[in-house]
Amino acid sequence: MTTAYTTGTTTLPWSTRRDALIGSVIDSSTSLLARQSHDIVRFAMGSPAAEAIPVDLLSEINGRISATHGADVLDYAATEGHPLLRTALLEFLDTTDEATVDERLMITSGGMQGLDLAGKLFVDPGDLVIVEAPTYTNGTATMLSYGADIEEVPTDQDGMVVELLPEIVKRAGRTPKAIYVIPNFQNPSGTTLSLARRTQLIELARQWNCIIIDDDPYGLLRFEGQPLPSLRALGEGDPLIFSVRTFSKVLAPGLRVGWVDADPRIVEKMIAAKQAMDTCTNLPGQLVVADFLTGGHLPAHLDRLRDLYRTRKRAMQDQLTHHLSDKATWTDPAGGFFLWLTVPGIDTSTLFETGLAGGVAFIPGRALSAGGNFGDALRLCFASTAPERTAVGIQRLATSIEALSVGTRT
Ligand SMILES: Cc1ncc(COP(=O)(O)O)c(C=O)c1O
Repeated sequence: MTTAYTTGTTTLPWSTRRDALIGSVIDSSTSLLARQSHDIVRFAMGSPAAEAIPVDLLSEINGRISATHGADVLDYAATEGHPLLRTALLEFLDTTDEATVDERLMITSGGMQGLDLAGKLFVDPGDLVIVEAPTYTNGTATMLSYGADIEEVPTDQDGMVVELLPEIVKRAGRTPKAIYVIPNFQNPSGTTLSLARRTQLIELARQWNCIIIDDDPYGLLRFEGQPLPSLRALGEGDPLIFSVRTFSKVLAPGLRVGWVDADPRIVEKMIAAKQAMDTCTNLPGQLVVADFLTGGHLPAHLDRLRDLYRTRKRAMQDQLTHHLSDKATWTDPAGGFFLWLTVPGIDTSTLFETGLAGGVAFIPGRALSAGGNFGDALRLCFASTAPERTAVGIQRLATSIEALSVGTRT
């Protein structure tokens, strides 16, 4: 005989942490969109273009590693990452301004796990953590899950307004434990932290002895302008700089392979933390990335992506100029996936519903701010949609904005 349990009648023995688990509107939009059956132009998710994922090559590599490694490819692997991937990644990083050494490297399950490990190792309940406004909500959600008190710092066309930090810290009455920053082609604003601000940020972190969580999934995707030295490079191995990286945006998010570059003392503790979390990063994914790197495919692949995303950004901006130049303003990212649209007088959470019904999806601004601000802004991902579809999507967006504007006027 089976016992019927009814949801809602049992009082569950929750942890106090439970209420701080707020999830992510961005990730929830994947499920929401999957449930829709009508035609929708999807500017919401920060996914690479389907055609930007080298599916045939990755499947061929997958077949080859299965043939070579047999059942070993489905075994547990070293927590810090498989040696083949570690070696291949160190060699690749040698060709960038982020050359590092074995003791500083930790392979993670995507960038999100890097953020989680930063929170786990550095944030106690009640600690002050500074984030950009707007910011990548999942990063804030991670810090909140460790009990952080979040303070927002504004951003402008040069990224986080670092000059405001001392005043914010003074007002908060205590120094931060961590500053969470996305320095290149920021998610969601698309802006890039200037060199002067990078230097100043490192100086302030040293003064306050606080960790900089340097989250840079898009840095390899610069398609315009001159590269800037990374915080990792400027910090020259400073233990206060915790650099979170991922293959999700430059290769494929489903692989769930990323890495952290941090002080060896931190790496040691991250290994312990990951052993109590997921033991090791998905091994087939690690071996596929390792083979992709040692096969020398990444540089040409990145060149292809940069060309593709430059074209797509410009196509989106042309459409915005055509349809919305009198109603909205937008940022001009020099790389990455996103631009940020501000539509004065329009509540973009309401616009989301109208847009979704009308066949276009985006992320409303409020979902990308710790304080629930930016009610008249929204994030558009230009990377995953081809120009012809982008034209359809921006036309639909303009129609939805017009419908709401009429509603507001009457
Ligand atoms: C700024 C930022 N950090 C971290 C991540 C998460 O990366 P991953 O999918 O590798 O966990 C993303 C993905 O959207 C991101 O935009």
